[in-house]
Amino acid sequence: MSRLARLCGREEFMQERLERIREKALADLARVQNTVELEGWRVAYLGKKGPLNEILREVGRLPAEERPAVGQASNRIKAELEEALGRREEELKTAELREAMEAERIDVTLPGRPPSVGFLHPITETVNQVVSIFASMGYQVVEGPEVELDYYNFEALNIPADHPARDMWDTFYIRQGEGQDVLLRTHTSPMQIRTMERMAPPVRVVVPGRCYRYEAQDASHESQFFQIEGLAVDEGITMADLKGTLATFARRMFGPDTRVRFRCDYFPFVEPGAEMSVTCVACHGVGCRVCKGTGWLEIMGAGMVHPKVLAGVGYDPERYSGFAFGMGPERIAMVRYGIDDIRLFYGNDLRFLRQFA
Ligand code: PHE
Repeated sequence: MSRLARLCGREEFMQERLERIREKALADLARVQNTVELEGWRVAYLGKKGPLNEILREVGRLPAEERPAVGQASNRIKAELEEALGRREEELKTAELREAMEAERIDVTLPGRPPSVGFLHPITETVNQVVSIFASMGYQVVEGPEVELDYYNFEALNIPADHPARDMWDTFYIRQGEGQDVLLRTHTSPMQIRTMERMAPPVRVVVPGRCYRYEAQDASHESQFFQIEGLAVDEGITMADLKGTLATFARRMFGPDTRVRFRCDYFPFVEPGAEMSVTCVACHGVGCRVCKGTGWLEIMGAGMVHPKVLAGVGYDPERYSGFAFGMGPERIAMVRYGIDDIRLFYGNDLRFLRQFA
């Protein structure tokens, strides 16, 4: 007990102290700005070591008759401060919440940002269309390796090592000279061989896939491109089946008025070989810039499977015959959409690609 307390009338002095604590506490509370400061205030005034507890501890030393009044006063102030604390806490929490909401305020009347939805590349789209036309004619879809053995890319297709026709398909070699060259396939035709090795006739497959060639790139040549191969082998298949099938395809792909033209062409793995053209999609055969005035657009190579190729996979050429064809979907997309540079397809310029969305 302080000396002052002993000097003054004790109860009166304690009541005086309590009143000062109360005033100071309420004044401090009014200055508290946030819940963190509020906790500091609580510890300072209502905590174990706070002034109210100090007074309660001192009450024991008062004469018995003075104790109840001081104890009651102290408890009353404690209750008052606790209540004030509760109120202030509510106020601060509401203010903090309001502030947080203000910070996160969004304008719900703004129009939303549309999610960007992807779309298929025009070449994928073209491949899918070609494939589904053949699928509806009973063709099965198969795919094969882009890294291929020399045997499948050339040898088994009747293009032996020193054959001048190899010049038609110069390519990128992965490994050379260790008995068997490994290369990036120059066409999808190797899948003719792989398919026939795996299944017995009747065979009807289409093979979409990427091909590679060692090309000087220009408006009509890319070193990477797609092809779609077709192969049908069975007993009694003739050139009439080839023409009927491909004419049907052309009309489904380019419109019912499309006419087709076959002219002789040379590929070592077919005999006879042909190139197929369709009437120009831009001028319908009259002659224009797209078809360079001819009225025709060449879209694929085709022919009757060479007997040597059939014999090579163990099919009896006396019993079985078939036709094969190969087309470039880039070329088809170019003539359909009037695109004059093949490099646009793989330049990844969204301004170009978005036109096909
Ligand atoms: N593979 C040939 C090429 O890439 C196209 C073709 C396929 C020709 C099938 C005839 C038969 O040029």
